[in-house]
Amino acid sequence: MTSVTTDTASQAGAESTPALEVHGVRKTFEAEIAPVRALRGVDLTVARGTFLALMGPSGCGKSTLLNLIAGLENADEGTIMVAGEPLTEGSEDDHALIRRRHIGIVFQFFNLLEGMTVLENVALPAIIAGRNRKSAETRSRDLLDLLGIGDKASVMPGVLSGGQRQRLAIARALANEPTLLLADEPTGALDSAGGQEVIELLSRLHAAGQTIILVTHDANVAAAADTVLMMRDGRILDHVNPGAGSNGPATTIGTL
Ligand SMILES: Nc1ncnc2c1ncn2[C@@H]1O[C@H](COP(=O)(O)OP(=O)(O)OP(=O)(O)O)[C@@H](O)[C@H]1O
Ligand SMILES: [Mg+2]
Repeated sequence: MTSVTTDTASQAGAESTPALEVHGVRKTFEAEIAPVRALRGVDLTVARGTFLALMGPSGCGKSTLLNLIAGLENADEGTIMVAGEPLTEGSEDDHALIRRRHIGIVFQFFNLLEGMTVLENVALPAIIAGRNRKSAETRSRDLLDLLGIGDKASVMPGVLSGGQRQRLAIARALANEPTLLLADEPTGALDSAGGQEVIELLSRLHAAGQTIILVTHDANVAAAADTVLMMRDGRILDHVNPGAGSNGPATTIGTL
């Protein structure tokens, strides 16, 4: 089993719990021919402020791991703590609360609500989380401005470019100020200009302190991260960190 620790965050006081702690996580999917062991023992600690890119061949378990961290699926074994709160204990309601408070997720194909305006798409998660409409919309406008699409607030998502659509999806994921921003191949459906927009945006968010875990096949995207880890066959591979013992340098960069 591989144990990986990243520690690039500026940490202070109560904020010092890691953004994410994954221990001994296993997940098997039942399939017609034979069960698929998608995760075979994953250990991962991600400090706040880290921008982590997960890479690896198709089918190695990247999306499964992200979905478990997002609480979209349950692990068979192991524990997942987000900001010190357990996603693998307690009731479904407890998990939903942790998700709402700590997780924002962005997918390859945006998953926008096409019948709502750009502003409504961003405001909705905050309203669902209990914020009143006015304050949700005020924060949403600020987010859209920050992400460079403030002038699109009242249009429908259908008129946006791919890069703008993904920026909108990122704004929506940030609506509840999540501890963790998760992104599964966020540039996978974009042309190179759209992809570049998204990379630059993620870099800016990281510079502002946002913790990000991103899955990508694209080395250009991974290059924006401060930590790159490789997965294979349901495990995170050992990374090369020359000269570092278990108390070695705080930041560990995987080899590509
Ligand atoms: N709901 C499911 N039911 C059955 N098998 C599944 C399910 N979800 C994933 N799998 C299998 O689990 C393995 C890991 O899938 P996963 O989607 O995590 O891979 P991935 O690394 O994200 O691949 P890609 O780079 O192609 O997106 C694959 O063999 C996949 O077929
Ligand atoms: Mg995937």
